[in-house]
Amino acid sequence: SNSAQIGILASILFLLICWLIRDSLIVKDLNGKHVFITGCDSGFGNLLAKQLDRRGFHVIAACLTEKGSQELLACTSLSLKTVILNLTDSSSIDNAVEFVRQETDGESLFGLVNNAGTATPMAPTDWLQIDDFHAILDVNLVGLIEITLKLLPLLKRANGRVVNVASVMGRLAFLGGGYCLSKWGVEAFSDILRRDMQHFGVKVSIIEPGCFQTGITSSEAIERDLLRLWNQLTPEVRESYGDQYFVEYVKAQRLSMKRLCDSDISKVTNCMEHALIAKYPRTRYGPGWDAKFFWLPLSYAPTLLSDTMLSMLLPTPAASRKSVSRVPLV
Ligand SMILES: NC(=O)c1ccc[n+]([C@@H]2O[C@H](COP(=O)([O-])OP(=O)(O)OC[C@H]3O[C@@H](n4cnc5c(N)ncnc54)[C@H](OP(=O)(O)O)[C@@H]3O)[C@@H](O)[C@H]2O)c1
Repeated sequence: SNSAQIGILASILFLLICWLIRDSLIVKDLNGKHVFITGCDSGFGNLLAKQLDRRGFHVIAACLTEKGSQELLACTSLSLKTVILNLTDSSSIDNAVEFVRQETDGESLFGLVNNAGTATPMAPTDWLQIDDFHAILDVNLVGLIEITLKLLPLLKRANGRVVNVASVMGRLAFLGGGYCLSKWGVEAFSDILRRDMQHFGVKVSIIEPGCFQTGITSSEAIERDLLRLWNQLTPEVRESYGDQYFVEYVKAQRLSMKRLCDSDISKVTNCMEHALIAKYPRTRYGPGWDAKFFWLPLSYAPTLLSDTMLSMLLPTPAASRKSVSRVPLV
């Protein structure tokens, strides 16, 4: 049985080596190919734009603000172009698509990186209004779908690549609000798009980052928004949570951002780059140790286990359980 064990180990090693070699193969003639990236004002998109610009791609970087666009232009090569894009506005999307068409001479677009996103408001469900869901879903999901649909003809002509940024939090549906819904939706849209587009040589990859220090995970922005929501609550809802809950919720957010968030965001942009340049891009990338060793395994765990673990990360409302025992039995 010893030789059987050695045989199995050798086969696993052989398969691993084959996979590593396959994974390291790169597409030829990448120089000068066009890549369109959304959300380049800051964070992952900003770093990726600079990274791909240095690599010789023709980067078309979409920024939400003029300030973001000017700052990016000031530190990149002349071949990088910027365009203003607000994903909640169809005419802004049409304008950006027209810009891409002109830049590529109506020919082909090699890469689309759907990176832009927003995460606030993120709070317990009964603190939110329907507009709070729209504020996120309109950017992260509906906007992403609209720009993708409009760029698909150019991508199909190039046998191009689509790289969609989801989140490992989306797989777990951890935090309340539109964020996890939107990222869950991005996963589903990407899986469907990958199967539909495989016939045309368009490859679709999903990036599922763990927690990284960027604008989206800034504690101040999240806390400011939580306070706004807390102040808007009806006395009834506020009482059911209690003031202590709010204090502890804010503290839990701050601590988890501080403890979990990685400052090396190149781990994410390197995955995005791999999805664009590898001959065989992976379907899913999970950059970040927290994603690989905590959030992803937890997302595959039985619900009982993941619910218990996740509820340990958040405080308990004042009226929890008590309200159950108060329910009259007759
Ligand atoms: N950081 C993390 O831990 C993490 C984890 C998982 C997934 N992600 C995802 O990674 C992506 C990039 O986020 P990031 O972490 O790099 O945060 P970020 O620095 O806030 O970047 C998000 C970008 O999207 C832009 N944006 C916001 N609303 C927009 C709109 N309506 N239309 C067009 N662009 C808009 C932002 O512009 P402004 O800067 O001008 O607001 C910014 O450039 C997002 O999809 C996010 O959900 C992040």
